Amino acid sequence: MIATALTEMFGLQHPIILGPMGGVSGGHLAATVSNAGGLGLVGGGYGDPAWLRTELSRMKEATRRPWGVGLITWSASHSVVELVLGYRPHAVMLSFGDPRPYVAAIKAAGCKLICQVQGLEEARLAQEAGADLIVAEGTEAGGHGGNRATLPLVPAVVDAVAPTPVVAAGGIADGRGLAAALMLGAHGALIGTRFYASAEALGNERAKQRIVAARGDETGRTRVFDLIRGYAWPPIYPGRAIRNGFMERWDGRESALTQALETERAGYQAAARDGDYDTAVVWAGEVVDLIKSVESASALVARISAEAEAQLRAGAKLAR
Ligand SMILES: Cc1cc2nc3c(=O)[nH]c(=O)nc-3n(C[C@H](O)[C@H](O)[C@H](O)COP(=O)(O)O)c2cc1C
Repeated sequence: MIATALTEMFGLQHPIILGPMGGVSGGHLAATVSNAGGLGLVGGGYGDPAWLRTELSRMKEATRRPWGVGLITWSASHSVVELVLGYRPHAVMLSFGDPRPYVAAIKAAGCKLICQVQGLEEARLAQEAGADLIVAEGTEAGGHGGNRATLPLVPAVVDAVAPTPVVAAGGIADGRGLAAALMLGAHGALIGTRFYASAEALGNERAKQRIVAARGDETGRTRVFDLIRGYAWPPIYPGRAIRNGFMERWDGRESALTQALETERAGYQAAARDGDYDTAVVWAGEVVDLIKSVESASALVARISAEAEAQLRAGAKLAR
């Protein structure tokens, strides 16, 4: 067993957090991760109330273990935070924006505040705001993120916010990655892409198979999918996706795409509905190289943790 400040904070068996992937980390996947001894976070994304009610009810029914919800901060509102807190999660994770407007409500609900950050300034802001746990997300990550790579970012954040515990995210899919994160001073790993390719994840089977088939070289960071979908992401957070025909056509031609939105949007929406991933986005990180099949999330949690423990024991023998 690996014991860290993360496992102690929530009474977990494994220092693993499910990334709150919007539209992917539903109540079933998050409950599976929590029941397996990790911390399942429902991907609240842009805060759609109907989706949240469905998935949070599912979550509450399926687990008695600690769990939480993630929200995209720039798109959150007080009413969505109140809705989420009404389900009495053990943790709320805020990513991509200033968490301060929501801290008081989260703390008053007796809930742990997790802030996901992409750089040192954001890490210090999160600590000042009262974050109980800070997730340092490297640019290798699937989905939206910043510019800094996980390997140098994590120890820098650890140093900058000590004694607040830090968790590493971005590029972790197996026990080697988890063990490395612990060696960097993190107290665990938050994992997204690996859990997307799991049986319990929401989302089209074809998207999961694209993750299994893709190579890390085929992923890239872009704003074109946010433009076409109509999400006003701050430009400092492009998203990492598997390159496809749509991205090849428009990446680097964002102003042309902006001019063409009216004619392009219906086709894009139809592709997303039909699971045509040569047009629709599959967010995924560089770590796709390590993903060989769709697996059950509970098996993943157990295996990643056991592999990490073995890595740590083997690593100790290197020191003479
Ligand atoms: C499909 C997908 C959707 C994501 N959606 C969100 C989101 O809504 N909110 C969020 O905070 N992070 C989101 N992320 C990022 C994850 O929380 C996490 O930082 C990232 O997946 C970690 O890197 P990895 O993909 O290499 O494991 C998403 C990631 C993926 C792959």
